[in-house]
Amino acid sequence: GIVLKGRDFLELDDYSPEEIQYLIDLAIELKRKQKNGEVYQPLLGKTIGLIFEKSSTRTRVSFEVGMFQLGGHALFLSKNDIQLGRGETVGDTAQVMSRYLDGIMIRTFGHDKVEELARYASVPVINGLSDLAHPCQVLADYQTVYEQKGRLKGLKLAYIGDGNNMAHSLLLGGAKLGVHVSIAGPEGYEPDAAVVAKAREIAKETGSEIVITRSPEEAVKDADVIYTDVWASMGFEEEQLAREAAFKDFQVNEELVKGAKSDYMFLHCLPAHRGEEVTAEVIDGPNSFIFDEAENRLHAQKALMAALMG
Ligand code: CP
Ligand code: NVA
Repeated sequence: GIVLKGRDFLELDDYSPEEIQYLIDLAIELKRKQKNGEVYQPLLGKTIGLIFEKSSTRTRVSFEVGMFQLGGHALFLSKNDIQLGRGETVGDTAQVMSRYLDGIMIRTFGHDKVEELARYASVPVINGLSDLAHPCQVLADYQTVYEQKGRLKGLKLAYIGDGNNMAHSLLLGGAKLGVHVSIAGPEGYEPDAAVVAKAREIAKETGSEIVITRSPEEAVKDADVIYTDVWASMGFEEEQLAREAAFKDFQVNEELVKGAKSDYMFLHCLPAHRGEEVTAEVIDGPNSFIFDEAENRLHAQKALMAALMG
């Protein structure tokens, strides 16, 4: 069987296709239990620390509620309140916290900080978003697609916009799961070349096709899933105007989605900016699954915590 106890969860390429599918299946099982009112508390007496150096609605609430439902306790640790924000080292923070906690989630800027925390911590470390990756979100995203479509392998996901953390994790997760991923964005905002190369390497094994293009029409052609994200991610707010100009031809709107399959799903990690990366017609339309997707953060992360910390 698959045993993930004690593992970190920093990015999806650390996990095998079977392990990712195992987490998705477990998430669906835990979702069913919760909907049926079944109490399931494998983490009774355990505690996770949630370190946040950036804002959050979904990640914070879903980790706190998820841990509560699993019988454990979650501590919200804002960088403004802990000594990490005053210059205590990541290494010391990790080692001290490992003496109290059974797991640590961190949302931060540079991915090197997530890796450093994982290196020094003796308990599992979960990446709750870095500038490079957002694997918890993507676990919930592919769970949502799997629930709706009944399969993942051979489906096509089009990502329109910024080659950011979301693009990276969707690429690596898609490559692992045999999903074809096409990314369309403007010059200068491509996904990281090393991530693309890694995704292409993985894709060779799984039959996934990875395409990076400047044409949103090409990307969405016959797509099963259309995904977008904000043009200016957290930490890039001062580039908002320059980005609005750069991304103006990369809006997901009624015209663009015509090229996709008629039963395409629209997904967005949220928060969204209606009228920028996506129109209200699309994000609030019948093909949008954004709230199922947001809900699945709860179930996917419960599966993750149960598997890593159980
Ligand atoms: N999608 C996501 O991670 O949302 P939050 O920033 O609200 O946590
Ligand atoms: N790319 C966005 C995702 C937010 C969940 C950001 O990093 O701000």
